[in-house]
Formats: sequence, C-alpha cells, structure tokens
Amino acid sequence: MKVLLLTLILVFCFTQVSTEKKLVLFQTFTRHGARTPIYYIKGTDALWLCTNMFNEIPSINNKGTSQTIPYIFQKQFQMDGGQYKGNCTSGMLTTQGASEHRALGHYFHETLVDTGFLSDKYDPNEIFIRACDDGRIRQSAESLFTGLYGDYVQESELKEGASNTAQVVPVHVMETSLEYLNPNTKLCPHLGTLITKRHSTKEWKDYHDGLKDLEQKMVDIFGTEDLPPLGHIYDTLEAREAHDVPFPEGLTSDIYQQLSEVMFWEWNYTNSDLEISVLSLGLGMRDILQQMVLKINSLSDLKFIHYSGHDSTVSPIMYMLGFQIGQPPYASHTDIQLYKETDQYYVKVSYLKKDKILPWCGELYCPFETFYKYMMDILPVSYYQTCHP
Ligand SMILES: *[C@@H]1O[C@H](CO)[C@@H](O)[C@H](O)[C@H]1NC(C)=O
Ligand SMILES: *[C@@H]1O[C@H](CO)[C@@H](O)[C@H](O)[C@H]1NC(C)=O
Repeated sequence: MKVLLLTLILVFCFTQVSTEKKLVLFQTFTRHGARTPIYYIKGTDALWLCTNMFNEIPSINNKGTSQTIPYIFQKQFQMDGGQYKGNCTSGMLTTQGASEHRALGHYFHETLVDTGFLSDKYDPNEIFIRACDDGRIRQSAESLFTGLYGDYVQESELKEGASNTAQVVPVHVMETSLEYLNPNTKLCPHLGTLITKRHSTKEWKDYHDGLKDLEQKMVDIFGTEDLPPLGHIYDTLEAREAHDVPFPEGLTSDIYQQLSEVMFWEWNYTNSDLEISVLSLGLGMRDILQQMVLKINSLSDLKFIHYSGHDSTVSPIMYMLGFQIGQPPYASHTDIQLYKETDQYYVKVSYLKKDKILPWCGELYCPFETFYKYMMDILPVSYYQTCHP
C-alpha cells in the first residue's frame, strides 16, 4: 500500500512538472505613485514637501559601471519656488509615491526573484526599463527597481565608498513629442479629432448637464466661479487624500465620492471607444506583442520589461484588453505575462495583483495565438495612415 501510494505521488509529481506552465516573460505597465496636485486651485493652500532627489553624475569619463565618480550633482527645488507652499512643483512624485513603487518592487522581488524566475542579482540582459520622460515617471521606475533589487544588495557586496562601485541602470526614454506610451495627439492628430468628437456627443452633453448641482456646490465650497473642470478639482483632492491633507471646508467624503464617479464616467466613456484606446496606446500594445514574438522565437533574453507611465498609459491598455476600469489609481499596474507549456504559449493578465480573464478569450491562460490574433485585428495596419487620414 505504501509503495503504491509513493508511486502514485511520484507519478503525480512528474505529470505536474511536465504539464506545468512556466513563466517566460513578464511585462508590466504602471502609473506613477502619489504626487502633488497638477492643477493649482486658489484657496486650497497646503504645505507640500518633496524629498525625492534628482541626482546626476557627470557623464565625462563615465563608461557605465565602477567608475570613480568624484561628484554627484543634485537638482534642488527652491523652497516656495512654485505655486505651492514648500519645495514641490506641481505633479512631483512625493515620498509616499516613491514608497508605493518601492513596495511594488518588493512584491515583484518576492514573486519573480525569490521564485527563481529572475536572477538574484540585477542582470541588464534580463531587465528593460522604459519610461515617459517626466520626473515622476522616471522616479517611479527607479523606485520600483530599488524595491526589486536595490534593497537586497548586501552590505558585504559594497566596496569602500558605494558611489565608486555603483552600477548604472539604464532608464530608456524618448522625445516627448514622439512618445507613444501616453495618448499623443501631436503624434496622432486623428486621435485628437476622435476625442473631440467623443466629447461632443449627446450622451456626453446630457451627462454633463446633469452635473450642474455638483458644480454649484464647488462654487460654494471654493467661494469662486473661477474654477477648473470637475476632473481637475478631483485631481487636486485625490492628491490630498493620498497624503492625508485635509479637504477644503465643506468638501465631504460624499462629495468626493460623487466627483470620483464623474471621473469614472468620463474616463470610461472616452476609453470605451475602442478606436480611441487603440490610437492612444496601440503602439505600446505592439511593443508587448513584439517582445512576446521575440521571446517565442528565442531571439530575446529579456524577462522583465517595465513600462512606466501615467494613468492615461494604463487605462487604454486595459480597455484594449477588454476591462472598463476608468481612471487607474496611483501606482496601479497591469501585468501581461507570457507562459510556456511544452510547445504552447499562453498569455495571462493581472491588474492590481489580481488575475483577470480576458472577456474575449474566456480562459485565464489565453492561448498566445488567440491573444495575438485578437490584437492584430484591433490594431491598425498602418499607424501613420490611420493617424493622418
Ligand atoms: C524639501 O524640504 C525638505 C524639508 O526641509 C527637505 O528635507 C528636502 O530635502 C527638500 N527637498 C528637495 C528636493 O530639495
Ligand atoms: C462604460 O462606457 C460604455 C460606453 O458608454 C458603457 O456601455 C459601459 O456600460 C460603461 N461601463 C461601466 C462599467 O459603466
């Protein structure tokens, strides 16, 4: 009996091993962490202090690693140098925002390094970091990387004077006017036309006509008619909420909830137009597919690709995948994972650490061919021509 059981266990184990789906490529799209408000609204003064530093090493004589670096330069934002009290500019990543990405990096360390998928030590051949060229986006990528590897470097591995042995980690950016990890109406004028059209439909107008009461409440609370659109007010409050900065007097959590519903409606209405989400982030989706194809054909050693962007990066990706998420929160992430089982490849998607079944596929592990075909059907054949009709 014991022998039989043992045999059964062994057989079971072997079958398990041979049919196991193995992760081969992990791609993640993230929104930056918590930040200061983008829109300054008069009468909403609060003190904002920013502690994340922009450090630069001189590029002369810098061959990448283990250089003797006598000076590191630091950009310091002047106290009260901007619209806010304190030393933050608008939209700057805060200490808390950096922590959120660092925590996400720790999560990836546990799920991807500790499991043996990624090497114990940073290997530039395995990891690729791509970021929109904004301070908060780059710093979010850097914080995530710190959580993934930096916090696990042993004291004993550092030689005298850490700055002399620091390893350089590339964060790949591109010119903002050509950036496609963000809806870019300069790059794609037709996207601008579609958005304008979507924002002048009867549905859009009717919905906004129904918001007159809420708008009046804003006028009462802020004591002025000179207010930005509700979405911008929400942006300011979202930043305050994330940092426990009190709301202006009279702004209850119930009103905040109503504003967040308006945001959901607007984001959802805009991005659920598939043409809009495709022209917003279709080139990003193309990158995902291309990396998968390279992997399947053994033409790439990359295992972890981080695309660091905005809410407007993560959201259209999710709508293309078939999920109506509205505006994604700070430090949210969509993970698109490629698995291999014998000779078959599968794609699995998670959002905010939860596995999601692609509605048009119906299986958690969606066969790669199904995924690829679906995306090729919705992506334009010629981006340039679709964008310049
Ligand atoms: C902002 O001010 C705080 C408090 O004085 C200080 O700790 C921090 O280093 C300053 N940040 C920058 C970026 O200069
Ligand atoms: C999102 O917007 C679309 C188009 O207006 C609508 O059909 C859909 O029901 C909305 N989704 C949610 C979750 O409200």
